[in-house]
Amino acid sequence: MKEKAVASAPGKVILFGEHFVVSGYPAIVTAIKMRAKATLTPRHDKFMIKSGQTSAVWNSNGEQIYPSTATPFQPLFNMASRIMEDFGISSFFNAEIHSESPGAAGLGSSAAVSVALAKALASLYNIDMSIESVIHYSMLAEKEFHGRPSGIDSHITAIGGTLLYNGPGKYQNLKLDKHPEILIVYTGIKRKTSKMVSYVQNLSAERPDEFTQLTEIYSELYKKAVEALKSNDLILLGRLMTVNHLLLKCLGLSNTVVENVVETLLEKGAYGAKITGAGGGGCVIAVGDDELAKHLSGHFPSCWKSETGCKGVSEEA
Ligand code: PMV
Repeated sequence: MKEKAVASAPGKVILFGEHFVVSGYPAIVTAIKMRAKATLTPRHDKFMIKSGQTSAVWNSNGEQIYPSTATPFQPLFNMASRIMEDFGISSFFNAEIHSESPGAAGLGSSAAVSVALAKALASLYNIDMSIESVIHYSMLAEKEFHGRPSGIDSHITAIGGTLLYNGPGKYQNLKLDKHPEILIVYTGIKRKTSKMVSYVQNLSAERPDEFTQLTEIYSELYKKAVEALKSNDLILLGRLMTVNHLLLKCLGLSNTVVENVVETLLEKGAYGAKITGAGGGGCVIAVGDDELAKHLSGHFPSCWKSETGCKGVSEEA
């Protein structure tokens, strides 16, 4: 066993196809530069997971002994216990978690954390864990966090780059000469992915004809989006993003705050803008020219420019 293991994994943005991917359509997802980091050290008698000022402690029987109320760390602890059980490890650890992206905002923070933790555990205990296994364990935690994830977040944060994603294990790495830079604007509204996913799934069951029409438009849009990315045509990419946003709006996933952000981005010269992730708040993404970020200064309290196609999970020294 090592004395310390550190791993980090990227957040993500869905460029095209959130929600449609839950219904079996392919989506385009890319890794961003904001990362989550897990630092692991061995300890003697208990398990601890800590992030900022919040922590939780479990005893050797896996019972949470601090605090007395539920914490968001339980799915991570369950995942770690499962890894240790599967690989026959009986030991204890301290895990310190840090994520550069806000949670519940569509940037894949929870999957990045679980993937970084799985990788750090593998490193600490010298486990030879394949990337498929890292994804598998992360998805166990994601199921507890989100109910019915498509697996897109666990895949992109483990693999990195830009993926054409069509379900667990069904993806293609989209090789691009140039990955576009994107702007990410946080609306400040946290929302639950599981709630948004159930809402859309219910809607598609109740109004199948309308939903099918939207999926037909989406399927055409997806093909054009792949071409726009391959040819690095940012103007076309932006237009297609705005059309994707309108489809999400038709599904009832926007609100006045999100619409104000999208409108401001377009007014200030973005080629296109859309919700990214589950919708109902979270983040909006946009593409534009190099000047766009300057034109936006002072408009949004939380706005980041990010490279895309960033590297997946990795061990750190
Ligand atoms: O958790 P978010 O906001 O990144 O949403 C994930 C994208 C969805 O398609 C809405 C859900 C899923 O599991 O694919």
